[in-house]
Amino acid sequence: MQENTLCGRKDVCGSCGWFDIPYEEQLLKKLEGINTAAKADKISLICSKIIPSVTNSHYRNKMDFVIDYKGNFGLREKGKWWKVIDNHTCFLPDTKIIDLYHRLYPWVKNSGLSYYDRKADAGLLRYAIIRVTKLGETMVIILTTNPKDSSEEMLIKNSLASLVDTLNVTSFVWSHTSSKSDISFGENCEVISGAAYIREKINEHFYIIRPNSFFQTNSQTAELLQSHVISMTDTFNLPSSANVLDLYCGSGFFTLPLSGKYKNTYGVESVKSAIDDANENAQLNNLHPNFICAPAENIRISDYVPELVLVDPPRSGLHPKVINDLLTVCPKYMIYVSCKYEKFLSEMQLLRTKYSVVDCHAIDMFPHTPHTEVVTALVRNP
Ligand SMILES: C[S@@+](CC[C@H](N)C(=O)[O-])C[C@H]1O[C@@H](n2cnc3c(N)ncnc32)[C@H](O)[C@@H]1O
Repeated sequence: MQENTLCGRKDVCGSCGWFDIPYEEQLLKKLEGINTAAKADKISLICSKIIPSVTNSHYRNKMDFVIDYKGNFGLREKGKWWKVIDNHTCFLPDTKIIDLYHRLYPWVKNSGLSYYDRKADAGLLRYAIIRVTKLGETMVIILTTNPKDSSEEMLIKNSLASLVDTLNVTSFVWSHTSSKSDISFGENCEVISGAAYIREKINEHFYIIRPNSFFQTNSQTAELLQSHVISMTDTFNLPSSANVLDLYCGSGFFTLPLSGKYKNTYGVESVKSAIDDANENAQLNNLHPNFICAPAENIRISDYVPELVLVDPPRSGLHPKVINDLLTVCPKYMIYVSCKYEKFLSEMQLLRTKYSVVDCHAIDMFPHTPHTEVVTALVRNP
């Protein structure tokens, strides 16, 4: 296929499924989608506003480029997970990502390393993941299968070493896995050159991002999301001594600014490396939240006596045990940050037995896709 860095054809790889809709219309369509779904679910909620993305092209700070068993290197064809469009990027990633993709491309074709064939469970190269930050830092991760012996390990390392000068990135990492699944992260990570992480600044806080850490993918608009959530908490007029619980906290994206306001702030996250990052982020910013590494469903919310609970679960939503616990403990205030509003609305069927919505805004973190972030403030019913 002919390479086109700014493809913008919604049926090619599917990354920009709404590209043919003018951006203003996309925003209205998302707002209408939320309000129509809430009405259909009989949830008393009006999403009053959608905050646009700061930019609606080149907004992504991370892209996972697939390498298939034939050595095709690019993005998957829409609706055909088994087909990879070779030499294909798009207009959604940051331009630094596109530049690094082009610099990687000749190496993927000539590295001397085999390509992973999932059916046969054989071969090495699987993915190239590229991350960048607003601070101008760059990370390239090459994901391979675990080497079968030390000579294969040397072969991989020598081939990667030949890339160091071409890439000239802040952090160049070799990640490897024994998994047969199509995942773009490896359980083993080794730094080939540079730092073990890259740094991002969101409003006034610095965050480190390691190869396997979750980080909001639209950094500029993430600043709006974070400010919005923090100003929502201000409306609750809680004292600085209030206990605040941030469930599904990642590397402390919301926990850090919350801990600058509330002395007893707790962040809960199941991924150990994210909690390690969160602790390092707290130190980096001279803040003192408490981080707990555990699945949210395994903690007892009552142990923290929270006045406010913030939840930002993955697309699968809250664990039923977390919902039960919230409804039993019933903290006075909740903020629900959702990247899948259909799931959030289905959970509101339960939460509304004890809570009312007092504010709901959408923030468009994902232009040219049907997705949006929805932030809802809930207050316990009298
Ligand atoms: C949508 S991300 C939000 C992270 C963070 N609030 C942020 O904005 O960067 C969801 C987070 O939940 C974590 N997670 C997934 N399942 C979890 C669970 N059962 N208990 C706690 N954390 C979980 C993921 O590792 C991820 O960091």
